[in-house]
Amino acid sequence: MSWRRTGVREAEVVENAPKGTTVGDAPVVLVRLGAELRAIQGACPHIGGDLADGTVELGKIVCPLHGATFDLASGAVRADPFGVVPPEGAVGPLTTYPVRVADGEVEVDL
Ligand code: FES
Repeated sequence: MSWRRTGVREAEVVENAPKGTTVGDAPVVLVRLGAELRAIQGACPHIGGDLADGTVELGKIVCPLHGATFDLASGAVRADPFGVVPPEGAVGPLTTYPVRVADGEVEVDL
């Protein structure tokens, strides 16, 4: 793993507006939670919904296709597709990446 530039300025990542980008060949979504930034895989592990179009609520992101819900800190599944709570294993967790800011640009450790 190594720190990689995202091409996204820290100021571009705003509350409740996931920011999609590509790092190398990997789609990545950046999310702001207050003063903190989170970085997650860009494609939902269910069948690839674009999490940049997801909804952020209370530290979680909801996939726009079928509503699977993931914890933004750990990547853990909080609800399976179609709102099944507690989750029953229909989808695996998200990959999360360490994130930092260098000279105003967001970097992720892929
Ligand atoms: S693609 Fe994300 S819940 Fe189905």
